[in-house]
Amino acid sequence: MKLGIYPGSFDPLTNGHIDIIERSRKFIDNLIIGISDNNNKKNLFNLDERIKMINTIMQNRNINNVTVESFNGLLVSFVKKKKANLIIRGLRAVSDFEYEFQMTGMNFKLNSSIETIFLMASDNNQLISSNLVKEVSKLNGDVSKFVPPEVQIELKKKFK
Ligand code: PNS
Repeated sequence: MKLGIYPGSFDPLTNGHIDIIERSRKFIDNLIIGISDNNNKKNLFNLDERIKMINTIMQNRNINNVTVESFNGLLVSFVKKKKANLIIRGLRAVSDFEYEFQMTGMNFKLNSSIETIFLMASDNNQLISSNLVKEVSKLNGDVSKFVPPEVQIELKKKFK
């Protein structure tokens, strides 16, 4: 059984994230979505809200073998705690590369038994980011192409 960890802030989950989750299931059996509980980051949705939203979205799409957990501390410690050795990350434009390169390198130095695998974002998801979605939504823009309806509803509640 191949277990992968898909870490991130997921504030909120976008269609880009869903695409990575679905595609990663071609080569892993079980996926844990690991939501980073980083107090330094000012998130729009608290941890419970994010966990609940993602669980609902997975259930509504019949995406099985995916669990959602939060973690604090180092990602590599969480991966080991879960007895996994694979991190999945999505990669969009070149601008993502530097950050991902540094993070992967550091994680590898911290624990060389853990590999990171990148999936390129699909064409129509290249420009989606949680931050832009929040900004567009806050300014009353239409985010229906970027996030699932479940997230749209929650964004509307936050910005009403
Ligand atoms: O979706 P994001 O915000 O780009 O995800 C970043 C995340 C959560 C994967 C990264 O910040 C992380 O791994 N945080 C946990 C703390 C940690 O391990 N830091 C060292 C990474 S080199």
